[in-house]
Amino acid sequence: MEVNQYKTVKDIAYSEPGKFEETRYEKIHNVIFSNSNDGSVLVAREIADLIVSKQKKREKCVLGLATGSSPLKVYEELIRIHKEEGVSFSNVITFNLDEYYPMEKENIQSYYHFMHENLFNHVDILPEHIHIPSGTVASEDLHQYCIDYERKIIESGGIDFQLLGIGRTGHIGFNEPGSHYNSETRSILLDHITRVDAASAFLGIDNVPKKAITMGIKTVRRAKRIVLLAWGQNKASIIKKTIEGEVSSKVPATYLQHHSNTTFVLDSEAASELTRIKTPWLVRACLWNDELASKAIIWLCDLTGKSILKLIDKDYNDNGMSSLLAQEGSSYNLNIKMFNKVQHTITGWPGGKPLADDTNRPERATPHKKRVLVFSPHPDDDVISMGGTLDRLVEQGHEVHVAYQTSGNIAVADHEALKFAEVSLDMYPSEALSAVVAQITSKRDDEIDTIEVRKLKGLIRKRESLAAMRYLNIPDSQVHFLNLPFYETGKIKKNPLGEDDIAIMCAIIEKVQPHQIFAAGDLADPHGTHRVCLNALMESLKILKPKPFMQHCWVWLYKGAWHEWEVHEIDMAVPMSPDQVLRKRKAIFFHQSQKDGIMFRGDDLREFWMRAEDRNTQTAQKYNKLGLADYAAMEAFVRWYF
Ligand code: F6R
Repeated sequence: MEVNQYKTVKDIAYSEPGKFEETRYEKIHNVIFSNSNDGSVLVAREIADLIVSKQKKREKCVLGLATGSSPLKVYEELIRIHKEEGVSFSNVITFNLDEYYPMEKENIQSYYHFMHENLFNHVDILPEHIHIPSGTVASEDLHQYCIDYERKIIESGGIDFQLLGIGRTGHIGFNEPGSHYNSETRSILLDHITRVDAASAFLGIDNVPKKAITMGIKTVRRAKRIVLLAWGQNKASIIKKTIEGEVSSKVPATYLQHHSNTTFVLDSEAASELTRIKTPWLVRACLWNDELASKAIIWLCDLTGKSILKLIDKDYNDNGMSSLLAQEGSSYNLNIKMFNKVQHTITGWPGGKPLADDTNRPERATPHKKRVLVFSPHPDDDVISMGGTLDRLVEQGHEVHVAYQTSGNIAVADHEALKFAEVSLDMYPSEALSAVVAQITSKRDDEIDTIEVRKLKGLIRKRESLAAMRYLNIPDSQVHFLNLPFYETGKIKKNPLGEDDIAIMCAIIEKVQPHQIFAAGDLADPHGTHRVCLNALMESLKILKPKPFMQHCWVWLYKGAWHEWEVHEIDMAVPMSPDQVLRKRKAIFFHQSQKDGIMFRGDDLREFWMRAEDRNTQTAQKYNKLGLADYAAMEAFVRWYF
């Protein structure tokens, strides 16, 4: 579908069946896009149209704006519209939702800095039309400052269009759980989860301010039009609660259920927990295909606590799946078909089993010895996500290469880098090493690392990875450090993917000419690097596809450290013995800089090896509950057709 043929997300919602469906579960109008770009482009179009229509009437256009990762593409698109289509922002007045407190404007983590870097510096908005709560107001003046901010919004004629993101706590602006329906601009204490989510931007939770100034719920509700953006799996659960749950101060975004001109713009991952997406058979008549049937039957097993072969007609009929039963004839046939399908995903031969009939195996039997290229976004995702499979591939005689896409340097803590710098200095006293030590010890919280310190941090991760690979018997010559340039900003915010990144990716694929590629298909990485690394692979495969060696290349996706594939999605499940679980654990241990108090762990306090083990054990248990063999642990992959 050509999205640009529609003017606004509202139009798209009502003009294309399936994009938005009123169901008895949903209380907020929402539109789902297959990716965040398409949604953002339409939202930017709605804003631009509003600006232009107001201009024609010689009116000001008052925008309420948000920061964070969600609106980034909207701002990028607005800048494009300004530059390429000549839409002027001279009649635009903006009010930002919030700012950390206390916070200097110049600080790179301030929302003042964010808004100027991502929008204001690139359009012709008048500086006096920009309003962002100030993080430097003296605390005794704060109360009056907030009253004045609220008054200024009203005096400007009120907000015409309010752009929102949503926090995992259900906050809009920084209206954390407990916020009142009639709250106005005020200072607020940030929720722990919000601070955890901001930790990576501040390089550690201890640096995240505890307070903020935020517009209130009432301030937001007074806007004439509200559009809330949510992208990615991490938002799925709060989106479901907000759209389907009861209005409650525990999830402040639910207050939007009372606003009659609100649209939520979602990508398919953020929408994935909505009842009509997760369990569509509960909502309407379904056209059943194999994928939907697998999803439904595995859900039914979970609901009834039964294994696949024990499901009876009544289970199907009672739970919205009678049409599936009618289509397949009987639960007996359906159960056997599904059992075999899941059974055939299990293999101890992830590179294919030599001389075996491979009709029902996930991988081909030939060639017996395959060249395997494993892409790992950071230097440790390989062992965390597929350490057991790597071990099997090497043991079964395949030529295994591992390519680390980024240096992973920003995830090494300063104290860790200092340790290595000081050891080197103790060994070989030199001015250069003293300078590195000084650069680390004198660094301020809001400063980025020098090139030398970044290099040192990258080298620490390189050596850890080589040690882990040697433990798994992969020779150094088959370990590749790509150091993709997009990552090398020294900041959380990375550069966009460039031609140089793609060229490096293509070069390694051409060099290895793999029969199998394994890569991270994880789209929920909190700071997005996995997503960019996957895009880099997709772009490279598009370019290389015509090459003859690519005809024999299959791509398998594992998930990163954060989530696992749903059982119905899995195409290959590789079981691990208890011994292999221990070997995998040990391989992860080599990544010492990522062990204690790691910087990017999100709100999950377990170390990576624990998460990996829990996840692999859970996958095995899920298979077992469906009535399949009882393994200690399993790693899971989805085949990706390019
Ligand atoms: C930002 C704001 C917050 C964010 C929310 C989501 O001005 O008010 O409510 O919109 O925390 O943040 P991201 O978009 O980074 O997931």
